Amino acid sequence: MRPGDADFLTLGPEDAARLTAVFRDAAGLALGEDARFSMERKLRERVIATGTESFAGYAALLRAASPEGRRELDEALDLVTTHETYFFREDYQLTAFRREIVPSLAAQTAATRRLTAWSAGCATGEEAYSIAALLCDAPALAGWDARVIGTDLSRRGIAAARRGIYGRGSFRTSPLLSASSVVEPHDDGSRVREHLQRMCRFSQLNLLDEGRAATLGRVEAVFCRNVLIYLVPEARKAVLGVLFDRLVPGGYLMLGHSESLLGDPGPFEPVQLSDALVYRRPMTDSDPKKRAR
Ligand SMILES: C[S@@+](CC[C@H](N)C(=O)[O-])C[C@H]1O[C@@H](n2cnc3c(N)ncnc32)[C@H](O)[C@@H]1O
Repeated sequence: MRPGDADFLTLGPEDAARLTAVFRDAAGLALGEDARFSMERKLRERVIATGTESFAGYAALLRAASPEGRRELDEALDLVTTHETYFFREDYQLTAFRREIVPSLAAQTAATRRLTAWSAGCATGEEAYSIAALLCDAPALAGWDARVIGTDLSRRGIAAARRGIYGRGSFRTSPLLSASSVVEPHDDGSRVREHLQRMCRFSQLNLLDEGRAATLGRVEAVFCRNVLIYLVPEARKAVLGVLFDRLVPGGYLMLGHSESLLGDPGPFEPVQLSDALVYRRPMTDSDPKKRAR
């Protein structure tokens, strides 16, 4: 196949179904029939670059357990997922976190003066740094050891998060705190201030990987916003189980505005704050055997 041939590669319904199944099995992604043309556009160049010559061959490579197959699966997942994010997104919820949840968690963690928040599905890191800035600014946490863990499926996203340098698109809403308290000017845009970078640790993680998630330890708050909407129902349920297990009893879960659990909150307890609905791991689990990790 020669350069330029990519334009002639079309993704038929059968190969689209194969690829959809690969992405569903690997990361729980819900890519319907309507995703066929965007998959075709996004993955065409990868078919050429990998020399697999057809979408069927490419799907077979993604299924292969070889190092090359696994590397390419990372690449493909990165291309077919949505990484849209920006600083202080869904600010009404972050305001509620700052005003109502942080003081409650500070009371809960007073003995250790240690508080960890997890940005699960942090994309390029803006959410994790926004949380770090809010924790840093909270009077109730003065002198506390406050940390933020940021994880994402996307290797590239995690590399960008570690770099901590952002363009103007990352500041599309007015921040809850002055931008200058979060970032400083840099030749390539704005760089997250060093004390906030030190509070954050980033790593690549598939939220379906319960074993690796367990290595993060327990956290007091999880932000998993605008991630579950992209997953099939079984994966959503599995991810919620993973998040539940990582939370300390009394810890909070924040979801995106279109990801309500009210239909089935499972083991979580819905908590209506003044301006946001969040969820909490109960202080005592109703069925401790079910989730005793
Ligand atoms: C739209 S971004 C959300 C970013 C941020 N949480 C926010 O609300 O601004 C969704 C992110 O979820 C990640 N993602 C999707 N499926 C995942 C999975 N199974 N495990 C980990 N991350 C996943 C994607 O890589 C993407 O970066």
